[in-house]
Amino acid sequence: MAMTQEIPTTSPIGRSTPRVDGAMKVSGKAQYTSDFHFPGTLYAVPVEATIANGRIVKLDTSAAGKMPGVRAIFHRENIGKMFRSTLGQGMEGICEERRPPFEDDVVGYYGQYIALAVADTFEAAKAAADAVRVTYSKEKPNVETHLEADDDPDSVVTTFGMRERVDSQRGDADAAFASAPVKLDQTYVTPAETHNPIELHATTAIWEGSKLTLYDSSQGVVNFRSVLAQMFDLPKENVRVITKFVGSGFGGKLFPWTHCALAAAAARQLGKPVKLVLSRKMMFQTVGHRPRTQQRVRLGATRDGKLVSLQHDYIYHRSMLDAHHEDCGEATPFQYSVPNLRVTFGRARRNVGAAADMRGPGAVPGLYATESAMNELAGRLKIDPVKFRIMNEPKIDEGLRLPFSSRHLLECFELGAEKFGWSRRTPEVGSMKRDGLILGWGMAGCAWIAARFAAAANVELRDDGTARVACATQDIGTGTYTNLAQLAAHKTGVPLEKIEVALGDTSLPEGPLSGGSMVTPSVVPAVFQAADNAIASLLTIATTTPGSPFEKRKSDDLAFEGGRVFVKADGPAGGVPFADLLQRANLRLITGSGKSEATFGNPKPKYSTHSFGAHFVEVTWQPEIARLRVNRVVTVIDAGRILNPLAGRNQIEGAVVMGIGMALLEHTSYDPQNGAPINSNLADYVVAVNADAPPIEVYFLDYPDKEINEVGARGIGEIGLAGIAAAITDAVHHATGVRVRELPVKIENLLA
Ligand code: MOS
Repeated sequence: MAMTQEIPTTSPIGRSTPRVDGAMKVSGKAQYTSDFHFPGTLYAVPVEATIANGRIVKLDTSAAGKMPGVRAIFHRENIGKMFRSTLGQGMEGICEERRPPFEDDVVGYYGQYIALAVADTFEAAKAAADAVRVTYSKEKPNVETHLEADDDPDSVVTTFGMRERVDSQRGDADAAFASAPVKLDQTYVTPAETHNPIELHATTAIWEGSKLTLYDSSQGVVNFRSVLAQMFDLPKENVRVITKFVGSGFGGKLFPWTHCALAAAAARQLGKPVKLVLSRKMMFQTVGHRPRTQQRVRLGATRDGKLVSLQHDYIYHRSMLDAHHEDCGEATPFQYSVPNLRVTFGRARRNVGAAADMRGPGAVPGLYATESAMNELAGRLKIDPVKFRIMNEPKIDEGLRLPFSSRHLLECFELGAEKFGWSRRTPEVGSMKRDGLILGWGMAGCAWIAARFAAAANVELRDDGTARVACATQDIGTGTYTNLAQLAAHKTGVPLEKIEVALGDTSLPEGPLSGGSMVTPSVVPAVFQAADNAIASLLTIATTTPGSPFEKRKSDDLAFEGGRVFVKADGPAGGVPFADLLQRANLRLITGSGKSEATFGNPKPKYSTHSFGAHFVEVTWQPEIARLRVNRVVTVIDAGRILNPLAGRNQIEGAVVMGIGMALLEHTSYDPQNGAPINSNLADYVVAVNADAPPIEVYFLDYPDKEINEVGARGIGEIGLAGIAAAITDAVHHATGVRVRELPVKIENLLA
């Protein structure tokens, strides 16, 4: 790995940079998936199962099929062949619900698609879908919220391959717990949560002969192509997936869902483009959710506060069909120093739709449990929770027995405590007051994966002084267009406004999934190498073009900086702009390609690479009217060098607001009678909104992580949501004296 580069002050890297696509978005020019229109497009509306467990006995489409404007009612008998997909090499062939739609008559969850109406208009398709009559043989669904682990083998199949259920182990956790002078044994519960990006999932499928093009609201076009190619028995090069703008995804759009295959299958049968946009209700049923978790945490410590044992045993629910793994123990083995540890998991099948990754999958519910336990144990030990964490700071990753590439968690605690004013905290419940309100102060630490997916990119320099950077990754609203422009500008000296960014299209060089907070770190080396190769080719042209000011010089004698070529010995003052050199050579453009390997999933890493952070939270509590508010948050993040502090702060603020929702509001409830997610709309599924958002102070430590890439940039999409719920519930305890161990905190919990 190259050493971390010094970044010159003229570079846009590290500078707060407004979104390069901002004007397109606010002027309505940015095209989201459902904004694309094609001549002859038909509209598809799925028929949703109204039971969660049973079989379809009879499907009567006769009335629906005769309605005006209806082109077809598809079901198992007439949809055409679809294959299952399977995991491929790298990050390909990934899918949470492998069963192709309509594969059999079995219904495993409420809302499962059982037929598809296609018509000339959306309204006609919806009316026809509503007119399909279904007879079921039904059984009582299992949506039991108490989780007991199913009788699974020690090693289980997950979406990403096999996984041992004893996840991490060292020392003798049982014996050390038994003899520990101070103990804590508590179970923490997080509910099912549903991704609610503003943009609904949408797909338009278009066939031209044996070529399939899909416009889709996807967080990963490259994987999407591989799944669809398998399902429709096409060579990968015959499938093109396009995603220009995404109205956020939170993980729900990472992998293809059954409606994508349905749109493609219907378009194949009808020979016309087919558009399918989900309803908000369907968003709760068929496109994933964060699974419910139940996590038992056992901690043992000495009286003076040294951890001696940590056990984290968690169970999560999943559907009858999926193999999702909710990796709650992801951060447990390395976050604190403890000689005896065991992390295990179990799974419980339920009649719900497939579980899926949701912002900070695994570690977010996991750190809620472990950080809550740390706070509770600190209280029992009568040690300040910040001090307790500092006392148990590890020197290395004790799980992997590897040094950390760059860990500054202590500095996160120290800076956060200072900015928040933590030293003024009095630990007794209800002891702090301001303006007639009871204050509660709480804190927690956090961590998130830092790694790279494989990536390829292309950089072009053009004869008009502009440049283009291309990579088949996505911008899910997080600022990837801007990041790619910044990286290209840094290397080529072309100003941001003269850089075209092309992404979200499988016809471009294969780029990373917009997941795991890995896009930014992944694209850095690929874009840099592509730019270096373009520049090398420019220097050759400079020395070989007749009449060039550098003709007959050696390329080694030349340098490129700030968009100009010059003789090293003469310095940049006498440089020639690259556009002049291309014009002289009668070249429209030169191009360079770059490629970098994945570090994610490396079986033999040299370092433990993670991002870290700390949250400090103030709540206010008015017992007279039972009013609880999150009043102030200070968050410090150690995520390597921050490419764009403006967009970065926006990511952390958004995650903190989402964390307020996680702690106090969000939960999906399933009806025990029919298994339906009953609060399947934005009025009943309450997310945190602006009115819930307090002042949020965000600090970045900005230490470059030289192991991750040349600029030392890790990702920041998810870490802000990790730990925040534990900080909030600890603040709630400090204000009210009530320990809530099942999210979300409800006002009923706080009324004695
Ligand atoms: Mo994130 S859950 O990897 O989109």
